[in-house]
Amino acid sequence: MKRIVSGMRPTGRLHLGNYEGALKNWVRLQDEYECYYFVADWHALTSDYADTSLIKENTLAMVTDWLAAGLDPQKCVIFVQSLVPEHAELHIYFSAVTPLGWLERVPTYKEQRENITDKDLANYAFLGYPVLQAADICMYKAHFVPVGLDQVAHVELTREIVRRFNNFYGDVFPEPGALLTETPKLIGTDGRKMSKSYNNTIELSDSPDAIRAKVRQMITDRTRIRRTDPGHPEDCDVCKVHRMFVPADVADRFDEDCRGAGIGCVDRKKALADAMIEYLGPITERLNYYRNHQDEVRDIMLEGSRRAREEAGRIMADVRRAMNISWE
Ligand code: TRP
Repeated sequence: MKRIVSGMRPTGRLHLGNYEGALKNWVRLQDEYECYYFVADWHALTSDYADTSLIKENTLAMVTDWLAAGLDPQKCVIFVQSLVPEHAELHIYFSAVTPLGWLERVPTYKEQRENITDKDLANYAFLGYPVLQAADICMYKAHFVPVGLDQVAHVELTREIVRRFNNFYGDVFPEPGALLTETPKLIGTDGRKMSKSYNNTIELSDSPDAIRAKVRQMITDRTRIRRTDPGHPEDCDVCKVHRMFVPADVADRFDEDCRGAGIGCVDRKKALADAMIEYLGPITERLNYYRNHQDEVRDIMLEGSRRAREEAGRIMADVRRAMNISWE
C-alpha cells in the first residue's frame, strides 16, 4: 500500500468547510492508503510563538473532531508532531541542503510577510516553515500528500529538497506528489468563503438550534423582496449551499418552487438547516461520544504518536547511514 501523510495546524474545533475541504477526503483515503495524519503543533509555533496557551487545548479539540468525522485509529495513524522529535532531526538535515533563495521565493511566505501585520514574522522558523513540512512528509517516505491548492507550492518544494538530498546522499526518499481533490469551496454564513477568521462558520459541533440560527442569518436573493416575488436560486447563497447537501433532483424541485414563488426564502433556509443537521448526524453522534471520553482521545493520540515514532526511528536510521553520521 502506498503511503500518505497530511497534517493540520491545531486550530481547535473544525467547521463544515474543513470537513468538506479536507477531512472527508482523509476519511476516504484511510481505506486505500497507509495514512499518517498529524497535528502540526510545531508549525503553529512558527507564527504564533508569543502565546502558546491554547495549543494543547486546540490539539485535543481538533483530534476529537477528526475522530467524530470518521478517522479510525485502526486504519490510520493519528499523532502529534511534537511527540515525534525525529521530525526536528530531519528538519535539521533538510535545512542544511535547502538554499535560502528557495524559501524566500515561496508564494505563501512572501504573501504572509506582506499581509500579516499583527505578528512579527521576521523569525527564523517562519522562513523555514516549508522545510519542516518537507521533513513531516519525508519522515514516513510518503508518496502522496492530500492538501488544498494553497499547499501545493510546499509539496513542490518538498520534491526539490528530496531531489537535492538524494543527489548528495543516495536514493533515500521517494518524491512525494500532492493529492488534490476537487472540492468546491463552502460558502460561509456571510456569503464569503467559510473560514474561521471570518467568523462565518458552521462548526461540526454546533447544535441543531445553533445551525438553524446561523442559517437564518444567511443572505438570499437580494432582488426578491416580497414573498410573492419570483426568486433567482442562481443568485442565492442559501439555494447554492442547499444543493451541496441534498440530491440534485431535490435541489431542482426547490429551485423551481423558488422561481415560481411557491416557497419563500424562510422555507429554503429551513430546508438547508434540516439538510445540514441530517448530514452531520453521524458526526454529531460520534462527537457526543468522544466529548464524553476525552481520555480515550488522548490515548489514541499518544498511541498513534508511539507508532509514528517507531516508523520515524527506522527511517531516521536510514537517513543517518546515508549521510555518514551514524555511529552504529
Ligand atoms: N502547512 C499545512 C497547512 O497549513 C499543515 C502541514 C504541516 C502539512 N505539515 C504538513 C500538510 C505536512 C501536509 C503535510 O495546512
